[in-house]
Amino acid sequence: MGQTAAAAGTPPLERIPRDRTASLELVRITEAAAIAAAHWMGHGNNNEADQAAVEAMRKSMEDARFNGTVVIGEGERDEAPMLFIGERVGRGDGPEVHIAVDPLEGTNPVAKGRPNAVAVMAISEPGGLLHAPDTYMEKLVVGPPARGKVDLDRPVAENLKAIAQSLNRDVSDLTIVILDRPRHEKLINDVRAAGARIKLIEDGDLMASLSVPIAGTDVHAVMGTGGAPEGVLAAAALRCIGAEILGRLRFRSEEERARAKKMGIADETRIYRTEDLASGNDIRFVATGVTDGEVLKGVHFFARGARTHSILLDRLMGKLRFIDTTHFEDIEHPPIIRLE
Ligand code: FBP
Repeated sequence: MGQTAAAAGTPPLERIPRDRTASLELVRITEAAAIAAAHWMGHGNNNEADQAAVEAMRKSMEDARFNGTVVIGEGERDEAPMLFIGERVGRGDGPEVHIAVDPLEGTNPVAKGRPNAVAVMAISEPGGLLHAPDTYMEKLVVGPPARGKVDLDRPVAENLKAIAQSLNRDVSDLTIVILDRPRHEKLINDVRAAGARIKLIEDGDLMASLSVPIAGTDVHAVMGTGGAPEGVLAAAALRCIGAEILGRLRFRSEEERARAKKMGIADETRIYRTEDLASGNDIRFVATGVTDGEVLKGVHFFARGARTHSILLDRLMGKLRFIDTTHFEDIEHPPIIRLE
């Protein structure tokens, strides 16, 4: 076993805070949200699905051992009754942490029974996650090899060339994920003109971003404009695995611009890098699939139970875990357990 392999699994203990919230407590929170939302799959009701996820996530946080403040949530205090920005969450007897949540990333996919909806949360020491306004963000996500080699201000063709070179392949062998929106017409034309392949998605640029650094997904970059909160959550995940997101806020209205100003965001031309969006040292990111997707399976229900599939990224411990959980409806009558 090489030196690195021998060291894997034993990070220096002095770098791990003693009162750190257990990672499984975090997974339990997104699992609860995912199960609640999954009941609404295909019902055609975005709001009910979202509401169910929000309530379940909020409730499961009540006995989580942290002293949390929501920095990215369901909106401002006056517009969201639960998980609003600034809300204090957790049991209150653990470490101070900042939390970014999206209890249901992909309300449409759930309502329509489409893939890639997830329940998501990121956590860090205070100040470690950008308090981003609920607006749009222009994004460029690349894997570790292309880190530092792309720029939002560079022509699309140049960025594609840099990504292709970093992966030792031709531009024509790249697959770029773009949200299928009219605002992306020029971007789509530019990518096509450069010769790369495109996967247009209906929703869910967060999980698409996470699939970039995971080999085997056949996704090499995400380009285009999506939600800013999703950009921060993606940054938290990508920071843990050395990938890169570049983001620039794109306001949809003067009201959004004014709100951002109030939050201290003065320079709207600023390009945020991964470390600006998720600057924390002790960052963890967890997502549980709601509907089946490329990276995560969705919630599967069966007699007396349900099964969930989650990903947990832990920057400080240097771990990525896939967690496959069977949930018993009644501990006296467990469901049948399956390997696959
Ligand atoms: P919701 O879960 O809030 O529906 O967001 C899903 C999503 O597709 C995100 O993944 C993406 O960043 C954003 O919406 C794009 O926004 P829009 O649908 O306005 O283009």
